[in-house]
Amino acid sequence: MQEITHDVIIFGTGLAGLRAAVEISIQTKGKADIGLVSKVQIMRAHSVCAEGGTAAVMRPEEGDSFELHEWDTNKGSDFLADQDVVERFVATSPGEIRLLEHWGVPWSRREDGRVMQRPFGGHTFPRACMAADKTGFFEMQALYDTLVKFNNFTRYDEGFVTSMLVENGRFAGLTLYDAPTGEFNIIRGKALLMASGGLGNLYGFTTYSQTVTGDGQAIAFRAGLALEDTEFLQFHPTGLVPSGILMTEGCRGEGGYLRNNKGERFMEKYAPKMMELAPRDIVSRSEMTEILEGRGFKGPDGLDYVHLDLTHLGADVINKRLPLIREVCIKFLGLDPITDQIPIRPVAHYSMGGIEADINGRTQAENIWAAGEVACHSMHGANRLGCNSTAECLVWGGITGGEISKYLATGPALSPVPMEKVQKEENRIFNGLLQQEGTESPAAIRRELRSVMDQHAGVYRTGELLQCGLEKVRQLRERFKNIRIEDKSRVYNTNLIQALETENLMDLAEVLLMSALAREESRGGHARTDFPTRDDQRFLAHTMAYYTGGKPRLEYKPVAITKWKPVERKY
Ligand code: FUM
Repeated sequence: MQEITHDVIIFGTGLAGLRAAVEISIQTKGKADIGLVSKVQIMRAHSVCAEGGTAAVMRPEEGDSFELHEWDTNKGSDFLADQDVVERFVATSPGEIRLLEHWGVPWSRREDGRVMQRPFGGHTFPRACMAADKTGFFEMQALYDTLVKFNNFTRYDEGFVTSMLVENGRFAGLTLYDAPTGEFNIIRGKALLMASGGLGNLYGFTTYSQTVTGDGQAIAFRAGLALEDTEFLQFHPTGLVPSGILMTEGCRGEGGYLRNNKGERFMEKYAPKMMELAPRDIVSRSEMTEILEGRGFKGPDGLDYVHLDLTHLGADVINKRLPLIREVCIKFLGLDPITDQIPIRPVAHYSMGGIEADINGRTQAENIWAAGEVACHSMHGANRLGCNSTAECLVWGGITGGEISKYLATGPALSPVPMEKVQKEENRIFNGLLQQEGTESPAAIRRELRSVMDQHAGVYRTGELLQCGLEKVRQLRERFKNIRIEDKSRVYNTNLIQALETENLMDLAEVLLMSALAREESRGGHARTDFPTRDDQRFLAHTMAYYTGGKPRLEYKPVAITKWKPVERKY
């Protein structure tokens, strides 16, 4: 076992993690020694899959404004966003676009040479800065290219973090299974940034890479940090059937239509003003209503669908602005969007909740910050607007990088490592989990878990469905105690990693279902048919979930309302 020490540990190397690393490098003039931990190779973080764009107010002279972006975001959030956080976000994101411009992102351009922005759902102005439909990929490249100039970081690729050690309210270390060597190490620093992304593999039908399993949320939760608003899981309206691959909202931003089996643009009924560009919660519910009322198409394995129609856009727009969409449709389905309609349905895409963090990204622990999807800064409330996520990663990557740099300058002491806890964790994994000779397959349990979540915590929910899902998850947890991991080796044991991921997913499933069950209202991405309206009297509040060792404990905290009173959402 090695004890590895850096000034700061960044867990996760997607947009938020890399942006923070760059900020720390700039602010400390390359002096801070950074440890970058990733469960994949650094540039395979899921952020590379971000397609459609990054939101920012870039053209006040053409009619956009900070106020408008704030209003769209707060209204989109069904008024559960903290409005002071939204205000800071909106004011900061244009600077991030300009920084990325300097660092080399090849933005798509208008005729006049300015960065192209396209319309996105719930935004009343074209606000998504785009690099065709591969925006995340190019942003990641630019950030990493910028970071390598500093030569101040060490990479721990394919390192699986199994636990977070917090002693007396301070970060003391992460226990790390180094897959390439099979070693079990402790990695520590004066500060930790959690930037490990989402939890979408909780669902079977999802846009996420297989690697996105909520490891950061789960280890933080078990270490005593609060998870906030996890019941708000976003279903993106256009997941390709049957793979779940994202068909970017940019398709509708470029003018694409949604059609039912009668060929009707059904959004006319649900959001007559914004049509296909209403916010995602509304479009996803509308699609499900069409499907449930028999106006969809029969799909494989119950994945009934409606159509995304781009055929009227023409080859030039599709080839220039949606090349990835065309390539994916051709390769995965043998369909060409220039001439064929695309089968799509709502798909698990984003977690509005996460590790509770304040407006500076600081968590309840003094020296732990969180940024990107793993965090909940209360920025998206009950429903995130498209293209606000990559922007949030950049904004809070920058903010937390700045905060951590200041913190490092105060010369904080390293917390002592509780070695007995490290040894206990190594023992639990390598002598316990890995050696036990049970009869259950971890892979089968994971498959069942994802199907339970698809069926019991989808676009439409009821108390009965959620309760039944919770019982099923608890049964799966019982069965998990009796698993057998086939591969018994230490080096590159992906069976073991998948079992650890499944443990994480089960913890998060329980928190999500309990939080959803307790929230007896419909708000944003949480639509309960047994409580169909929003209830501001009881639930204008953030859900906070705490680990107890048994059933999670739920508490609520108020929403920061500064400028806009909650009103009915109409689009
Ligand atoms: O549709 C998309 O391109 C997704 C963007 C987002 O989730 O912000």
